[in-house]
Amino acid sequence: MKSPRMEGSGIGWRERCEAELKAFSEADSIRFWGIAHEVEGEAKPIFNYRFEHTTAAVKLGRWLCPQVGADLEVVECALWLHDVRKKLKDPLSKDTHASDASDCVAEILEGTDFPPEKIGAVRHAIEHHVGLRLAKKLEPLETACVWDCDKLSKLGAASLIHFGCISGAFQPITTEDILQRGEAWLELCKGIVASMNTAPAQAEAERRLRFLTHHYRQLAHEWREPMEISAP
Ligand SMILES: [Fe+2]
Ligand SMILES: [Fe+2]
Repeated sequence: MKSPRMEGSGIGWRERCEAELKAFSEADSIRFWGIAHEVEGEAKPIFNYRFEHTTAAVKLGRWLCPQVGADLEVVECALWLHDVRKKLKDPLSKDTHASDASDCVAEILEGTDFPPEKIGAVRHAIEHHVGLRLAKKLEPLETACVWDCDKLSKLGAASLIHFGCISGAFQPITTEDILQRGEAWLELCKGIVASMNTAPAQAEAERRLRFLTHHYRQLAHEWREPMEISAP
């Protein structure tokens, strides 16, 4: 696979970040699934979870930053790269994906138009994006926004599609399995909502959690016999 860094200088930082993420995550998805579609002579993953999740987080960054006065270059760059070296689960390996990503930021951005004086802030945000609960609000604002956008992307309608598409990659999956995991996830989501750093992200997280709750209630209504829960 051709590395985006081999394509010469003059590429903008957004394009470089997106290309780097796409190259790494496509290769990792194909490795993990152990199967690929052939599209115009190229192997393409069945579903590139990492790229879809990151794209959702980047969209959220573009939505959130102007509302709270955060530096969009720092936040968007950190979001593109926050999982850039994260592999689909290997339960035996230690999770170092935040520091792994931070360590390669300067190399990925080398030769692009990204302001070098902002690389430290990007790395700080990446290093602090992990975990589903915060004991205290994150600082500075850009690091806080990256955490909020990463977690918000795991709530809502797009997250349901991402979860459904990736579920079967780990083991055989049924509708009941997805429902049980969804119900367990709702409990964790309460901690995420309570931990949001910024007011707009918290309001959106609450709205998305209500949507998810309705979704799983409806799924339970359709799937379980006897009907245990009334439809909303
Ligand atoms: Fe991550
Ligand atoms: Fe992430």
